[in-house]
Amino acid sequence: MNLIDKMIQRAKANKQRIVLPEGTEERTLRAADKLLSDEIANIVLLGDPEEIRDMALQMGLTNINKAEIINPKEHNNKEVYIDQLVELRKNKGMTPEKASKVVEDPLYLSCLMIKNGDADGEVAGAQNTTGDVLRPALQIIKTLPGVKVVSGAFIMYTQTPQFGEDGILLFADCAVMPNPNAEELASIAVSSAQTMQSLVGVEPKVAMLSFSTKGSAEHEMVDKVREATAIAKETNPLLMIDGELQADAALVPEVGKSKAPGSSIAGKANVLVFPTLESGNIGYKLVQRLGNAQAIGPVLQGMAAPVNDLSRGCSVDDIYNMVTITANQAIGLK
Ligand code: ACO
Repeated sequence: MNLIDKMIQRAKANKQRIVLPEGTEERTLRAADKLLSDEIANIVLLGDPEEIRDMALQMGLTNINKAEIINPKEHNNKEVYIDQLVELRKNKGMTPEKASKVVEDPLYLSCLMIKNGDADGEVAGAQNTTGDVLRPALQIIKTLPGVKVVSGAFIMYTQTPQFGEDGILLFADCAVMPNPNAEELASIAVSSAQTMQSLVGVEPKVAMLSFSTKGSAEHEMVDKVREATAIAKETNPLLMIDGELQADAALVPEVGKSKAPGSSIAGKANVLVFPTLESGNIGYKLVQRLGNAQAIGPVLQGMAAPVNDLSRGCSVDDIYNMVTITANQAIGLK
């Protein structure tokens, strides 16, 4: 059974309430219909109920009537949410007047619902940019206790079974944090290991990537990776992690042995932590396109409840799979 099939079974066995704020977006509605038909999750659609029902009728979708449909302008808990938003953001200039408008924004409303236990997770981004999806989540849901930053991982199904776990690797951060400092990079490494363990079910072996292996080059960018590795080891003594390692030393046993003798990770890594968002984002796309790997994600990690962002070019299947992943993250967090 492949990973998504396993996640589908897990989601079905413990149905989570997933909110889709882009309720009047065509691909989202098609995915919602299939998710409801397959009983993967309880779906909450945000949008004008009449418009959603008309669209479903025209598109021949027969399961949308099983969704909970909420008009963001007339939410039952509107007053409670306004007070909460003012409380959360008063230091950032949030007033009751501003909050009464903001809570009608589906991307904010969905996060407030999650914060209040009215939903377990969110998937959005078919219509909105990454920044617009992430900002409300970072402001309202925030990070898990002890986690410094939210980051984005890709589960990479490569064509090279000799690397990682039978060709499966996790890459991070490929989506969120442009230039993490050493503490933030350490936090990304720990979150990535947890994602590998909880979502993929594989024991993580984390390589902290650089252009240097164990002192082969000196630069402040290398220092950052070394420092991050030390922080991650200190805060999580049981974590299998090593750095700084070049990508070949992390992946190829013979290169690992010669460049980093004695390392328990070199040549065996299955989690690759990139030093910046530039390298992570470029790296996963190169492996995906030139190496013909399947890239599942970005899976956002480190958030107190799961929120996941879609590419605006996403397909109905992408949304279906992302809701399945989000439901699995919600189950994992509980
Ligand atoms: N983790 C936790 N909290 C964060 C993070 C983070 N990684 N980043 C920002 N925050 C918090 C801030 O502390 C701030 O909190 P506060 O308002 O309570 O003080 C709040 O979130 C907003 O932060 P800003 O920096 O003001 O928000 P901004 O919108 O400028 O940046 C964002 C956040 C949107 C995530 C930004 O870092 C970004 O655009 N990242 C790149 C996203 C991207 O384009 N990725 C590539 C495409 S995805 C792909 O190709 C797969």
